[in-house]
Amino acid sequence: MTMTAVIAALALIIGLVLGLPQGNSGGNGGSAGASEGRTSPPWYPSPKGGTVDQWAESYGKAASLVRKMSLAEKVNVTTGTGWSMGPCVGNTGTTNVGFPSLCLQDGPLGVRFADSITVFPAGITTAATWSRKLMYDRARALGKEARGKGVNVLLGPCVGPIGRSPLGGRNWEGFGSDPYLQGIAGGLSVQGIQDEGVIATAKHFVANEQEKFRQLSEILSQGFKDVIAPLSSNIGDRALRELYIWPFMDTVRMGLGSVMCGYNQINNSNACQNSYILNGILKDELGFQGFVMSDWLGQRSGVASVLSGMDMTMPGDGLLWADGNSLLGPQLTRAVLNGSVPIDRLDDMVLRIVASWYQIGQDDASYPRPNFSSWFRTSVGPTYVGAGPSAGHSLQNLYADVRDDHHEVARAIAAESITLLKNINGALPLKSGKEAKKSIMIFGSDAGPNLLGPNGCPDRSCNNGTLGQGWGSGSAEYAYLVTPLEAIQAKALADRTMVEYVLDDYHYGRINFTAEKTPNATCLVFVNSDSGEGYTSAEGVLGDRVDLKLWHGGDKLILSVAERCSNTIVIIHSVGPVDMEVRSLNCLLFGRLLMGDKAWIEHKNVTAVLMAHLPGQESGTALLDVLYGITNPSGRLPYTIGKSLADYGPAAPIMMQPGGSVPQQDFSEGLYIDYRHFDRERIAPRFEFGFGLSYTTFEFSNMRITQTRAPTEFPPARPVGVPAPELNSTIPPSSELGFPPGIKRLQRYIYPYLNDTSITKSPEPYPYPSGYSTTPHEPSPAGGAQGGHPALFDVIFHVTVSVKNTGSVPGKAVPQLYISYPNSTGVDFPVRSLRGFEKVGAGPGETVDVGFDITRRDISYWDEKRGNWRIPLDKEGNIGSYEIFVGDSSRGEGVTGRTEVVQV
Ligand code: NOJ
Repeated sequence: MTMTAVIAALALIIGLVLGLPQGNSGGNGGSAGASEGRTSPPWYPSPKGGTVDQWAESYGKAASLVRKMSLAEKVNVTTGTGWSMGPCVGNTGTTNVGFPSLCLQDGPLGVRFADSITVFPAGITTAATWSRKLMYDRARALGKEARGKGVNVLLGPCVGPIGRSPLGGRNWEGFGSDPYLQGIAGGLSVQGIQDEGVIATAKHFVANEQEKFRQLSEILSQGFKDVIAPLSSNIGDRALRELYIWPFMDTVRMGLGSVMCGYNQINNSNACQNSYILNGILKDELGFQGFVMSDWLGQRSGVASVLSGMDMTMPGDGLLWADGNSLLGPQLTRAVLNGSVPIDRLDDMVLRIVASWYQIGQDDASYPRPNFSSWFRTSVGPTYVGAGPSAGHSLQNLYADVRDDHHEVARAIAAESITLLKNINGALPLKSGKEAKKSIMIFGSDAGPNLLGPNGCPDRSCNNGTLGQGWGSGSAEYAYLVTPLEAIQAKALADRTMVEYVLDDYHYGRINFTAEKTPNATCLVFVNSDSGEGYTSAEGVLGDRVDLKLWHGGDKLILSVAERCSNTIVIIHSVGPVDMEVRSLNCLLFGRLLMGDKAWIEHKNVTAVLMAHLPGQESGTALLDVLYGITNPSGRLPYTIGKSLADYGPAAPIMMQPGGSVPQQDFSEGLYIDYRHFDRERIAPRFEFGFGLSYTTFEFSNMRITQTRAPTEFPPARPVGVPAPELNSTIPPSSELGFPPGIKRLQRYIYPYLNDTSITKSPEPYPYPSGYSTTPHEPSPAGGAQGGHPALFDVIFHVTVSVKNTGSVPGKAVPQLYISYPNSTGVDFPVRSLRGFEKVGAGPGETVDVGFDITRRDISYWDEKRGNWRIPLDKEGNIGSYEIFVGDSSRGEGVTGRTEVVQV
């Protein structure tokens, strides 16, 4: 492309994406939503990194190193070399100053495309443990494996999508439909990964809530020829902060090294070139010190993205997959030479990347280089797969076994996440040894293996055999997968129990015959529901689920077995909530009434139901632990199980038709997703958010609330940070940026060099995004430290409750703290909002005290007019009394108290 063509293309993109009227009207109150045509205000220039104390040393070291880099080297640090141009899913270019090409690799539950790794339980499963310890332990083990494989930047945790729609294809990668839960799990994940020296990536920033219409190439390939841009999540400032940004705050607060901007648009500006979102919220308000990378081909422009705060393009290619036509790379070189990108912006991009590398400790000489290939399993293979075999071969797969004893944490999470939803007639736990049942019958393909092998479908894009992960880039390759069938058989063998099974979901003759064969048998029915990422599909499902139904006729299977077997235990592996209300028509088959007209969940013969989420490789072992009571179930739902999709409210359906050239999705429900919606509309769910039974019982009592600090209505003045390093780089002559003589140029590989080094100054006036300015922007009063204003995290109340195990076996309770805001403030609030949880073990009869800290952020709301977190006051100017509920779910049994507030 010529320079003029590039500028024209950029102008077009800028015009399309940023050329809409500016100014964000903002909504008020939680129910106030976005309106179609909402726009995103300009926020320029991009705040510099290096302004918080904890990073000052790393920025100092980075500045010394970056000062030695040539312009081409700086560009290399910011730009991927192209799809499959290196061992990892993302690889940055090289330098000669000791800063390596970085390996960026998925993903959130295991090192993707690698051998000899652990497939940990998915994010949603980890959330269901409600165990801070296990959240951290999983991330630590995952980080250790990533380091062992030579990964510099791990592309996880995923803290968005949050699950606005229960059908969202990638909800399972994250930690459930509540920002507090998502934030704690995300923050602990960052801490665990980075404690091993690996840079964590919080993704997808932000409001990337459905797969359909997320990416232009997918949209076009699905036949929507008139669509010109990805979906715009139209959202008000308050819901944006209180639901979608909230978990990112927690990740940044933990010292996060990188953020991935999403594919979607927010208020009609692409996530990777939305200056309000990246410059304003992430870098200024949240004080993010690391770097922003694009999602793979999420970047839709060059200069506009860079000015808006994107620091790295991944995998490097341009508007089309593997086109080698980067929007940065040589274009960035040119943009700096012609003055359209200020050189200090490039310096800041590079500093942010290099400082993160120092901050997380990767300058340690023992840090491994990548020792695996994402693209092949032989030891030697093409060095640059994307450039073809002529680019040479090298030794790449060293088969480093990085698993250590990580199966233990994987198994503990898979077991502790299992959520017992129903247990009648003493169905569970099953007895062992001499007391063991004589006969176990197993039904459903979800109990057994995938006949193609555990990794038989690319990126797990099929639903064959037991479901351990969803599909897409958030999946990983099993070193092994213990199926429930295997685990149960092994146990049965030891107990001398007979085991029968029918793994064909539809072979009703055989199913019915087997189910009614032995009176007193225990029947285990395995069913599932799958989803994944939008670039690929399973059984015609293109990412997002189409409904909440169990796959493969699971309802019919359950009802069929339950009609014949008086002890039917249902095990569900699922990406999210499923419909348990399916009733079958009474039908006559083989001369008898097969099915009652009851929702299967209520069927008298369905004696127990376990939601086993997505357990990863330890599926069978963990399930066995719970079935036989080795682990007392302590999982709690990280989402609501409603009685119908409609019950989830207006946010529930996936937008399936674009409705115009740019799909507009209004988040008009504001704060009211999942339980917040059910509570407000007084809809009875089947199982509420936070629900889960145990083999024992707990009682919560004796709430004590102490105020630890007298708050002001707003956080105090924002603290002043430290000065960012200045490099004062000069722009080199363009003649230095040609291809070095003798370089062997690989096809489609992305170099920083120019074919033509003659540079024309950028046109006057350059088509900068509207509102672009180099004058420093007014800083947000809500900022001032990593994660936001430090006062947001001041503890205002401490709450203690006593938890007593009132049953006869040891177990773990999950006391959950929900607040209800005072109702005399004129501000609209959800009935209850989760603001604390702990997991505690207690023996029979034992009482344990549990404490919770409630922070300023926990009792504030985002005031759209003031652009700040604010504690709501009543008409008299007083902080009202907050109701504090600590219970075993969002609407279960518990203990309630009220705060008495002393204010400044
Ligand atoms: C696209 C996905 O959205 C993202 O989550 C992933 O990390 C990249 N592809 C790389 O595989």
